[in-house]
Amino acid sequence: MVATAAIVLAAGQGTRMRSRLPKVLHPLAGMTMLDHVLAALAAAGVEHRVVVVGHGAEKVEAAVGDRVITARQDPQLGTADAVRVGLGRIPSSVRHVIVTMGDAPLLPPDLFQRLLREQAEGEAVVALLSATPADPSGYGRLVRGADGTAQAIVEEQDGDAAVRALSEVNAGTYCFDAGWLRANIGSVPAAPSGEYYLTDLVGLAVSGGRRVAVVSAPRAELAMGINDRVGLAVAEQLLRTDIAHRHMRNGVTIVDPPSTFIDATVEIAQDARIEPWSVLAGKTRIGPDAVIGPHAHLRDAEIGARSTVWASVVEASLVAEDVQIGPYSHVRPGCRIGPRSRIGNFAELKKTTVGAGTQQHHFSYLGDAEVGNEVNIGAGAVTANFDGTTKHRTTIGDGAFIGVDTMLRAPITIGPGARTGAGAVVTRDVPAGKTVVGMPARPIEARRRSASRDDA
Ligand code: UD1
Ligand code: CA
Repeated sequence: MVATAAIVLAAGQGTRMRSRLPKVLHPLAGMTMLDHVLAALAAAGVEHRVVVVGHGAEKVEAAVGDRVITARQDPQLGTADAVRVGLGRIPSSVRHVIVTMGDAPLLPPDLFQRLLREQAEGEAVVALLSATPADPSGYGRLVRGADGTAQAIVEEQDGDAAVRALSEVNAGTYCFDAGWLRANIGSVPAAPSGEYYLTDLVGLAVSGGRRVAVVSAPRAELAMGINDRVGLAVAEQLLRTDIAHRHMRNGVTIVDPPSTFIDATVEIAQDARIEPWSVLAGKTRIGPDAVIGPHAHLRDAEIGARSTVWASVVEASLVAEDVQIGPYSHVRPGCRIGPRSRIGNFAELKKTTVGAGTQQHHFSYLGDAEVGNEVNIGAGAVTANFDGTTKHRTTIGDGAFIGVDTMLRAPITIGPGARTGAGAVVTRDVPAGKTVVGMPARPIEARRRSASRDDA
């Protein structure tokens, strides 16, 4: 039996974003605004969540999938109308209904819990969240009586000068007694604009002799809704700062937080060190004692213990422990780099598995390749994996030595311990232990092997 549910209002147009993307789908530190709201509600223990959608409904529905219930509001007749629509999807067992805005992504979970406690234990029909931002313009003002109790919320455009002079505003997040909300949502009168204001319920409760509780947000900037892209950037900065602080308190060194961009979804182990000008995005995970940056860009990358990524890009790949990457390397999606390997200057890899202790340096490319342990990939070596139509695989056995400027025309297999001479164009498989040279590469006598050197 669910006792508490939440309605997230996300049907509005978000005109001031000037975007084709629905406002609540704009990303913030790697997650959409709406996902931040849903995650905070889940963290507060509110599992039954209804999102009211309208403008861009298909896109919002696709983005949330079946993780939450959605309810369509069409036309959008204001916040009270949106709550009425959302209530239709809330089971009758629910006693407390949290209402919050899809465009308020920074609200910490404990504020939802405080609203719930104030409403339930204080026997109030509604507990609302107030805030005192530096600039209250544009927000509904909280009007308190002589005894300090909440009397009404007056929208800025409907208030006189005395109301507009009030600095305490309605943050737009509430916890309602479900029974009272169901009984009264239909009594909200239409405003002159034709909209139904949820905020009118406060005045209705007071005139009905019911108690309205107020919870003041300790940090106003976390409670406020985002209306335009300037607000979005401000929120991004606040969130990034909080994320960096969380990691530092967990034992991660972040040398220069302002130049370090860590998504909310990133995990970093103790004693990792993040150097300046680094971007850690998506589902990136960093192991203990790893050193990331300066100038690293990781997206959905897993970096093992003690590995270093210096001035390089790693995308959707697994990097084992004690690996050195960079400077100036690009590990593209689908790679697995084995322990103690070194990926050096201007090396590029794509969908390639590299074994333990392998070295790849200087202007080289490995694509669709399986590379063994202790292999040396010389300067300028390239897997020619694409014939214009199909991608082909390259296999390089343990201990192989690929000489400088070698072309490996895939599909091809280089046996364990085999060697290629400088500039070899290898078009046929090379058996284990053999050395090939030339163009196209052909086997040479054992006595000449020492001539095929790699000065990488
Ligand atoms: C609202 C409050 C205001 C408060 C402010 C805090 C009302 C009448 N006013 O004003 O007191 O200070 O939030 O940010 O509630 N929405 C719908 N359906 C609709 C209309 C809106 O789902 O028909 C959604 C919007 O997508 C948005 C939220 O409700 O997420 C708030 O709507 P918005 O128009 O931004 O209200 P504000 O004018 O900001
Ligand atoms: Ca708003």
